[in-house]
Amino acid sequence: MTARVLVAGGTGRLGTLVVAELAKRHVNVRVMTRDRSRAAAEPAAYVETVLGDVRDPSSVLAAAAGVDVVVSAVHGFVGTGGVSPASVDRDGNLHLIDAARAAGADVVLMSVVGAAQDSPMELFRMKHAAEAALRASDVPWTIVQATAFLELWIELLRRTAGRANRPLVFGRGQNPINFVSVRDVAALVVQVITDPATRGLTVRLGGPDNLTLDQLAGLVIANSGATGGPRHLPRVALHAMAGTVGRIRPELGRQARAALAMDRDDMTFHDHAARARFAGLPLTSAEDLLR
Ligand SMILES: NC(=O)c1ccc[n+]([C@@H]2O[C@H](COP(=O)([O-])OP(=O)(O)OC[C@H]3O[C@@H](n4cnc5c(N)ncnc54)[C@H](OP(=O)(O)O)[C@@H]3O)[C@@H](O)[C@H]2O)c1
Repeated sequence: MTARVLVAGGTGRLGTLVVAELAKRHVNVRVMTRDRSRAAAEPAAYVETVLGDVRDPSSVLAAAAGVDVVVSAVHGFVGTGGVSPASVDRDGNLHLIDAARAAGADVVLMSVVGAAQDSPMELFRMKHAAEAALRASDVPWTIVQATAFLELWIELLRRTAGRANRPLVFGRGQNPINFVSVRDVAALVVQVITDPATRGLTVRLGGPDNLTLDQLAGLVIANSGATGGPRHLPRVALHAMAGTVGRIRPELGRQARAALAMDRDDMTFHDHAARARFAGLPLTSAEDLLR
């Protein structure tokens, strides 16, 4: 039985759900955060919080002492300053792997569908580097790759909608993208944490929807009772943002390059092997979430 789990990223969208479900199953969970105020305000049974930063190997080593599984649900995509995909998704994950080795623990690594050495997205290249290091290590591991989280994109579209209720779409908004609910991903992550038979597996999970951003924005608009269509930030503006502003604010350059890639590359997903292998995973659609 899994006795104690460290969740780096346990305060995030995915990590919060994973921590709550593990605690519900009476698994002791240690949530690592850079800021204690990000942890749940009320102390919860089976959950403790430790301060740590994946960029600081000594804090990670201390946080992982005595655990059986180290879960990485961190990312540095939107980070500023020293927080970046290179420092968090690559180097931070290497620190988590080293700490797991020292503790004699397994690693469950959250990654992305499309992680590759030659991806146009820095985040995807850094996730690939972490995956490769983990596979080459002597630490028992499971890798979970997911497509884009529906809840995040619905929130982004709502946040940019303004009074006119017209969400802002970056680019043409015509490229189909697979979206998965973070609830479905959390259910899978909990299964692999608690099932040692999944060690050595890379599991890929997507959702039922391959939607363009225009289609998702249309659902968000319809759900709010409004009419009309989304606004668009043209690709030429994204290129300018990547090239000029991105030099001073690297995180904005990263976001612009990612938006361009999501507007152009094949982001669809049709692989249902994980849903066949892991029984009982929820299958949440965009319409389910918006209802
Ligand atoms: N969002 C997506 O569409 C998507 C798609 C596929 C895969 N994923 C992956 O799923 C995982 C969870 O994503 P999410 O969207 O749920 O994340 P999120 O809500 O944005 O939360 C990010 C988490 O990373 C932690 N973090 C960032 N920098 C850190 C650092 N230097 N040291 C320690 N912790 C740090 C934050 O913790 P504190 O701020 O509390 O320190 C926070 O808990 C990530 O690995 C992500 O790459 C996400």
